[in-house]
Amino acid sequence: MNNRMLAEGVFFIGAIDWDRRLFDSLIPLPDGTSYNSYLIKGNEKTALIDTVDPTMTGVLMGHLNRLEIKKIDYVIANHAEQDHSGSLPHVLEKYPEAKLVCTPRCKEFLMELLLIPEGKFITVNDKDTISLGNRTLEFIHAPWVHWPETMLTYLREDKILFPCDLFGSHLTTNELFVTDEGQVYEAAKRYFAEIMMPFSSHIQRHLERLKSYTINTIAPSHGPVHNKPEFILKAYHSWVFDDPKNIVVIPYISMHGSTQKMVRHLVEALTERGVAVKQFDLTATDLGKLAMSLVDAATIVVGVPTILAGPHPNVAHAVFLANALRPKLKFASIIGSYGWGGRTVEQLDAMMANLKVEVLTPVLCKGYPKEADFIALDNLAESIAQKHKENKFA
Ligand code: FEO
Repeated sequence: MNNRMLAEGVFFIGAIDWDRRLFDSLIPLPDGTSYNSYLIKGNEKTALIDTVDPTMTGVLMGHLNRLEIKKIDYVIANHAEQDHSGSLPHVLEKYPEAKLVCTPRCKEFLMELLLIPEGKFITVNDKDTISLGNRTLEFIHAPWVHWPETMLTYLREDKILFPCDLFGSHLTTNELFVTDEGQVYEAAKRYFAEIMMPFSSHIQRHLERLKSYTINTIAPSHGPVHNKPEFILKAYHSWVFDDPKNIVVIPYISMHGSTQKMVRHLVEALTERGVAVKQFDLTATDLGKLAMSLVDAATIVVGVPTILAGPHPNVAHAVFLANALRPKLKFASIIGSYGWGGRTVEQLDAMMANLKVEVLTPVLCKGYPKEADFIALDNLAESIAQKHKENKFA
């Protein structure tokens, strides 16, 4: 069997972007990414599932030429974001008879984003099917993973799910299937944290729905294909359903050492009380790692110096991000040092509106921390440990 086939007649024809290091001009890609496109041949019709980033159109067209594909009947657009839809205009130009299949909402996006004419589309409702002859595609509407227009495509006879971004990972490999589950778990968790976490409640619902499908293979549109799908389904289940863990995340910045001294003291005090800590110096940290740590953490403590009467801007950036990602945090606090005053706590507090957290008493000190400040930090550590224990966060 062709080493790029998921099953007889089901081909991986995506593009591996080994060198890309930033997504959305925001998200670090330490391991690059891939844009996975798949071709399904039925005995009557042929379908293409998603395309690739516009920068890689040539790779996709090269695969189609290599496979000598003369006709495509359906192009399935599970998701309108350009890393999967960007090559659609080229594909539709080369295969003018192809119909573009997507949700009604996705059609609106594709017409706006890529100026695709209305006559090209077939819109499908939830659970609609399209026959390729001996193969059937079923469409499962799954809004908000992570745009409102998304759907998943299920190839019934082969029991392959094509979920586009869901269950994906920004990971480059020339192996078609997952071989190193540890590596993929890390990349998939990073992907979940950055892209999917704000939509956890929607994903809970979608996971419940997927229980009624027998799924032998999950072929996402980023990263390797899951031929043992229980691995990634179980991981997603734990990320969206499990209680947070006995972990405190501490993103911080220190300008002259005072806030760092406080962070170190708090970390030691939490360690003595059996609370796990993930500490991030925001001058150097990879924001993806910070996002990943928020998937499981019960508490965030922000370490922040005051500058220009408010929080250091890099800390504000991290708090803005944490707030946007809507992790399942339960508690939050702020520690740090100031010179002559300011509204650091009030400003950061206002930036955490999405976080459904109980705010524990902040510890702000003037200048270098003193004995009373260290006692206050010990009290904060004790309070966190007690709260985690009461809530049975293990
Ligand atoms: Fe991989 Fe939402 O695009």
